[in-house]
Amino acid sequence: MSGDQIIIFDTTLRDGEQSPGCSMNTREKLEVARALVELGVDVIEAGFPVASPGDFESVREIANRFGDRTTICALARCVPKDIEDAKGALAGAAKRRIHVFLATSAIHREYKLKMGKDEIIERAIASVKMAKEFTDDIEFSPEDAARTELDFLCEVVEKTIAAGATTVNIPDTVGYATPNHYFKVISHLKKNVSNIDRAVISTHCHNDLGLAVANSLSAIEAGARQVECTINGLGERAGNAALEEVVMALRTRADYYKVHTKINTQRLYPTSHLVSSITGMKVQRNKAIVGQNAFAHEAGIHQHGMLQERSTYEIMRPEDVGYVGQNLVLGKHSGRHAFRDRVTQLGFQLAEDALQRSFDDFILLADKKKEIYDSDIIALIENRMVDSADRWKLISFHTSAGSSAVPTATLQLQCEDQPVLCDAATGDGPIDAVFRTMERIMELTARLEEFDVRSVSEGKDAMGEVRVTINVSGRQYQGKAVSTDIIEAAAHAYLKALNKADSERRLSAGPRSTSSAAT
Ligand code: KIV
Ligand code: ZN
Repeated sequence: MSGDQIIIFDTTLRDGEQSPGCSMNTREKLEVARALVELGVDVIEAGFPVASPGDFESVREIANRFGDRTTICALARCVPKDIEDAKGALAGAAKRRIHVFLATSAIHREYKLKMGKDEIIERAIASVKMAKEFTDDIEFSPEDAARTELDFLCEVVEKTIAAGATTVNIPDTVGYATPNHYFKVISHLKKNVSNIDRAVISTHCHNDLGLAVANSLSAIEAGARQVECTINGLGERAGNAALEEVVMALRTRADYYKVHTKINTQRLYPTSHLVSSITGMKVQRNKAIVGQNAFAHEAGIHQHGMLQERSTYEIMRPEDVGYVGQNLVLGKHSGRHAFRDRVTQLGFQLAEDALQRSFDDFILLADKKKEIYDSDIIALIENRMVDSADRWKLISFHTSAGSSAVPTATLQLQCEDQPVLCDAATGDGPIDAVFRTMERIMELTARLEEFDVRSVSEGKDAMGEVRVTINVSGRQYQGKAVSTDIIEAAAHAYLKALNKADSERRLSAGPRSTSSAAT
């Protein structure tokens, strides 16, 4: 790595997944990991293996699947069991990193750890050494570094580097730092840690004050060469530094920062879309780089300037980030070849069977809708991407409703290859009736916390996208689906969320018979 390359360390699958309501199952994490590899991130922090068997399994699968192409990292506290689990999960990866962390600030030492400075240093050194027996690539994080006394921070950093840490991460765990302050912290370390040149300095900024990206950039100016960030800025509380913003700031202002990343920026928008789709976490319209309005010029004077010369009002081109607008692309008579070409241009690499399924969906859609847009195609593909392994499938539904009728739904669901189950229920409206019927059949009780509908493209015949967030036994699950029929989209979205709750129920309670459900 040259001194002007910034290492992009993506923690969407670890810190990002810690956002409330953003939990992903192994299948979904693999999808995101695949997208991150294509995006070109240098390190994927795949999870915290000791946290749960599901976390262990996801890290293991990601390590096995992608660990020959991208460095896969696992998080561990300075506890032997954590490090053992991280080793176990990473065993299949050729490129592997263990990330050990221990809090160092006075507040954390006194109230959380109840440990003195010497004990912290001792633990940190022992843990780095233990992890080092498994891989050379060791990252150490003094948690809450931004609020740690500078002298003590220097001591911890120096001793963990001496013990074998090759990356020292300086987390602003609670989003307390400001750009100038953080610059000074990194500069102080560079100046006062005698062996600092033997490790890469990394930034890890939270966004509680809305400063995560600014702080990360400031750290780079001070000499940090790794940025920890997440797609769409997902993460604990207000989130982490948004990967797409850091990368595009460095690229757009290469004249100033004089550094570069290996990110394939044209994959930024599709990756953002995928992560939003899988986690159910919407991207705000005016979000920088990947928001729907990020490249929309509304004011007449801007539009006029743009027509004369794009650079008057545009500092990045939409195509540089893979932005897909409302391009009208295909219609009823477009063949499979045209469809395949468009899918490839949109950045998807689909296996033959997945392509065929999406093409079948496209034909069905083309029957209902005159004009098909890029956004429709993306929605169809994403709709298929994450549901292929769901156990419960919707076989059919029927609803009746009206001003003087009791809204009723009748549904047929099938769990894997078991007999089709049928039931009916009433509700406050036809969608509510569908949801209640599903819960009866699957024997799950869910509380609907969020229900969003939006149009995927333009026109009265546009597809509707429904996103739901449900709460089952205190845990949130998300589902998203599209259809030209809003009730059908709602049914599929709800079923996706229930499928996630069902698979977690099965993991924690062992196999369950479905034969008792109403028939
Ligand atoms: O915010 C934080 O301090 C973390 C550490 C585990 C690096 O996420
Ligand atoms: Zn964090």
